[in-house]
Amino acid sequence: MTYTSILTEIRGRIGIVTLNRPQAMNAFNTAMLTELFDALDVYDNDERVGAIIVTGNEKAFAAGADIKEMAEATPFDMIGQGRVEKWDRIRTIKKVVIAAVSGWALGGGCEFAISCDMIVASETAKFGQPEITIGVIPGAGGTQRLARLLGKNLAMEMVINNRTLTAPEALQFGLVNRVVPVDGYLTAAVAFAEEIDARAPLAVRMAKDSVNAAFETTLAEGLKAEKRNFYTLFSTEDQKEGMKAFIEKRKPNWKGR
Ligand code: HXC
Repeated sequence: MTYTSILTEIRGRIGIVTLNRPQAMNAFNTAMLTELFDALDVYDNDERVGAIIVTGNEKAFAAGADIKEMAEATPFDMIGQGRVEKWDRIRTIKKVVIAAVSGWALGGGCEFAISCDMIVASETAKFGQPEITIGVIPGAGGTQRLARLLGKNLAMEMVINNRTLTAPEALQFGLVNRVVPVDGYLTAAVAFAEEIDARAPLAVRMAKDSVNAAFETTLAEGLKAEKRNFYTLFSTEDQKEGMKAFIEKRKPNWKGR
């Protein structure tokens, strides 16, 4: 697929997807969304890639769904085009995806960032769900994920009253993993992704799957998923290697098997 609205790069073993519609604050139109998920699928299946970063530019990670594209849509158009369903594809990516966010992460931009596994934010990052100001509500998971991540009161305020979180607030409330200076935010995200890539790959995958279960199931089901993943890892060479390396006081040599 030829990309017109994103840039892609493999840096070392980190796949980087850069949203690239700066003239529209990286608003997600259909083309950009299609390209983004195509690139994520490609990196997810590329053995040279250990972890994935999605980023924007310094001014905007993404200002949400493209309002100009949706403005005249009917419910039938929205359902027919599967607009919301397109966003759900982030849940199918098996490798760790880190959002490197600077500037605006609004509406679908905020929803996409919080659907990633972790977030590195620049000091200028701002997170918000301004859909209420254009007569709608979040449609790509914002009401549900923010309520789970931040609790009811703050989620209500963001969704109902367009409360925007600054980067320090997002860190304080646990929405992002780290806040770094704006001139090094992508480098910091790459370093973070490299730390993850250096870990036992199958265990990382099972860890991601297990934590995600906490968002999608009851506690009992989530605990079952964790136990299943934990036991399964005892069938891997990396579990044997990891424990042997600990006993022999050396660094493990992961095989991804
Ligand atoms: C289409 C957008 C856009 C958007 C910005 N632009 N956001 N176009 N959809 N979401 C365009 C502007 O129209 C403008 O184009 C150009 O980008 C620059 O934006 P400005 O507003 O001039 O920049 P600035 O004054 O710096 O303000 C930046 C901003 C503001 C705060 C990010 O643009 C803004 O509030 N954007 C809308 C944010 C929003 O409401 N998002 C929610 C969308 S709904 P021109 O051609 O005039 O230069 C959503 C639902 C998801 O996300 C549900 C899933 C389906």
